[in-house]
Amino acid sequence: MNVWQKKPLILSIASGKGGVGKTVTTVNMALAARRMGYKTLLLDGDFGLANVDIVLGLKARYNIQDVLDGAVEIEDTLLDGPLGLKIIPSGSGLAGLADLKLSQRIRLLDKISEISQQYDVLFIDTGAGIAESVLHLNSIADAIMLVTTPEPHSQTDAYAFVKVMCEKYGKRRISLIANQAVSEAQGHKVYQNLADVAKRFLNFELGFAGVVPKDPAVLRGVMMQRAADDQAQHTLSGQAWNEITRKTIESLVNEPPSDSGRGLNDLLFPNFGAQRAL
Ligand SMILES: Nc1ncnc2c1ncn2[C@@H]1O[C@H](COP(=O)(O)OP(=O)(O)O)[C@@H](O)[C@H]1O
Ligand SMILES: [Mg+2]
Repeated sequence: MNVWQKKPLILSIASGKGGVGKTVTTVNMALAARRMGYKTLLLDGDFGLANVDIVLGLKARYNIQDVLDGAVEIEDTLLDGPLGLKIIPSGSGLAGLADLKLSQRIRLLDKISEISQQYDVLFIDTGAGIAESVLHLNSIADAIMLVTTPEPHSQTDAYAFVKVMCEKYGKRRISLIANQAVSEAQGHKVYQNLADVAKRFLNFELGFAGVVPKDPAVLRGVMMQRAADDQAQHTLSGQAWNEITRKTIESLVNEPPSDSGRGLNDLLFPNFGAQRAL
């Protein structure tokens, strides 16, 4: 299904604070994209705290470290996830991309770039926080899905992410996901607070992706490694992630093509085009 000119569409999942729900969001969005019929690849880009394979109950034989070591090709790392989802697993304790030598980075990104051409959507689960390597990986995305919970520290750290991302890479498309909200109204309020501050202090328009409720089914799904179950998509959180995915992909597909220089090669030239506004 080649619905846009530039393949693949790249969505990264970010957060200021750790433990807010990035990985479950990435996995659920990627599965939602599969249910919509898109060829979907998930890159576990949370180098050091990789756990996409664990959430899905998969056993990674090889990971990116093995590719960097020259032991295997990136194709050999591909895991078959549920519903036909393909996954590039990362290894725990792996150094951030920015810490890699340029030659290693080129080698890795070449491979990811090449392999992702065969997909409609590439989801990247990134690390928490504002480390250079994390911002860098997010900078290649067409849209950054920024996850926060209503917890004050999580919101403050989300704001810090927006601020530093804007400072270092210019105004990117960032859409907020208010996760673990106890009500729709609470989620909207979280968004509104952050959007107001971003507008006032950064003159930045923070997008709104949606609210995901705090749902005991999420933990059950994680514990039982059942994120892809048929029922999972009908839980309150599952429905929210489906809706967020549908809206996000539709809005990006319907957007007129941009001439922004983003893409996997941006990783090699991190500050290229930094001042370009969206
Ligand atoms: N919508 C939600 N409702 C309930 N619990 C959630 C929700 N989202 C995340 N969690 C809980 O938070 C934990 C951490 O989520 P995870 O995706 O691993 O965070 P991160 O990748 O940001 O570190 C999950 O195991 C789950 O228990
Ligand atoms: Mg995670």
